[in-house]
Amino acid sequence: MVTKFEKNILCIGAGYVGGPTMAMIAYKCPQYKITVVDINPDRIDEWNSDALPIYEPGLDELVNSTRGRNLFFHTDIEKGIKESEIIFVSVNTPTKAFGVGAGMAADLQYWEKTARQILACAESSKIIVEKSTLPVKTALAMERILTSSNSGINFEVLSNPEFLAEGTAIKDLEDPDRVLIGSSQTQSGIKARDELVEIYLNWVPDDRIITSNIWSSELSKLVSNAFLAQRISSINAISSLCEKTDADISEVAFAIGKDKRIGDKFLNASVGFGGSCFKKDILNLVYLCRHYGLKEVADYWESVVKINEFQKDRFVMNMLTTMFNSLAGKRICLFGFAFKADTGDTRESPAISISRKLIDENAELVITDPQALENAKNELFEYGGNVSFVKDPYNAAAGSHAIAIMTEWDLYKGLDYKKIYKLMNKPAFIFDGRNIVDHLQLFDIGFNVYPIGKPALTHY
Ligand code: NAD
Ligand code: UGA
Repeated sequence: MVTKFEKNILCIGAGYVGGPTMAMIAYKCPQYKITVVDINPDRIDEWNSDALPIYEPGLDELVNSTRGRNLFFHTDIEKGIKESEIIFVSVNTPTKAFGVGAGMAADLQYWEKTARQILACAESSKIIVEKSTLPVKTALAMERILTSSNSGINFEVLSNPEFLAEGTAIKDLEDPDRVLIGSSQTQSGIKARDELVEIYLNWVPDDRIITSNIWSSELSKLVSNAFLAQRISSINAISSLCEKTDADISEVAFAIGKDKRIGDKFLNASVGFGGSCFKKDILNLVYLCRHYGLKEVADYWESVVKINEFQKDRFVMNMLTTMFNSLAGKRICLFGFAFKADTGDTRESPAISISRKLIDENAELVITDPQALENAKNELFEYGGNVSFVKDPYNAAAGSHAIAIMTEWDLYKGLDYKKIYKLMNKPAFIFDGRNIVDHLQLFDIGFNVYPIGKPALTHY
């Protein structure tokens, strides 16, 4: 039986955003055919297997119930473009590593290749949806490429940034705070926008679907991430002051978060924020501000990243000074390597730079993580056999002088720390980079406990 779908939707880029987002649309809209394509055949094979390329709670169930029904993963990008009326572009937009703007501007090469490929393959009009996070005004570049051949085909470019967070992606997609759609304000722009609104209306209440001009939409995505990261750097900056003054960062965060104007979310002091987006998007914003001659504004936002680097540096300095100014030959066990809990993603994880600094001190590193060990091995590839990767946290901690908690996995809250203490070298140290374990209980067991932004609990 041949099923006739109401719409054919394509997503170019089968990553952390493209995969889950399209699985959600397919799940909520069985009347549409959703195809996800990627240049990486291994990634597509994994999407078509039982071992999906990313770990995300709830994702397996979503993919299992839609794959082969109205959700398809493959590598034939050309065919996908030809057969679709709506194309989401969700390719990676990392920080540029070369040339002008290196280390700061967005690298738009993958994005541009996609635009050119759409132009080369399209045989009918399309709506192009920017899902990737892009510098403001990118839609203009996209439009210029798409209209460069005078083919007579109409392309309407929309901005529809994604706000999901890893670890809660499925929940965020199912019940988003808002969906933002930016379009040009022309008649055809508004028509295309309404078509995208119609897709989301299948499950998102209409008062949560916001429309705006296309530049506001592109900029809002960068600014959302900058504001979120700014909160973490703000609380982390204050955590360093707490450690000097015997104030307690959890009490301070609780007190300030009770003010409804401030709010209680995103105030967990930590070893620093990680992830593939915060740093890159802030640097992108900084670069844009510099480009427009707004030096002071650029410096202001750059300080959010600087505080994050400071937080990681001082974590390691604290370990070094606490452990008698020498980590050489000492076995240090990192609990967690993912950049946050409930993901296997390690991109820009604070654990990466902390590992490097510890290795520079000639520490012997052991890393454990329930989902991120393979990615951790890739991140620390250059150190070869000098780092061990051990799945079981008890085996990982055995014989170590210190544990440093990098990721707030629930698993680490419920471990048998009496057993772990017995297995460790004495004096045994625990540096809680996420403030997730019961510090008093650990102190009573015998550990010397160093939280973030709280007085240390030591036996001497
Ligand atoms: P990712 O690296 O996981 O996935 C991108 C995919 O695009 C890769 O599989 C890559 O092979 C593919 N690709 C690159 N060029 C291609 C091309 N020319 N044709 C086909 N496929 C191509 O990246 P991601 O984490 O999914 O992020 C994608 C975008 O979404 C970025 O702009 C990011 O800033 C943004 N974003 C990410 C998140 C997140 O939580 N990861 C959340 C919101 C927004
Ligand atoms: C973030 C945003 O939350 C998403 O809205 C956005 O779509 C996404 O970036 C993106 O553009 O990629 P994500 O990076 O997946 O999502 O995860 P977050 O929950 O924001 O955590 C980022 C980092 O901040 C993690 O390392 C986390 O541990 C840390 N964090 C978070 C803290 O240190 N303290 C907090 O209170 C909250």
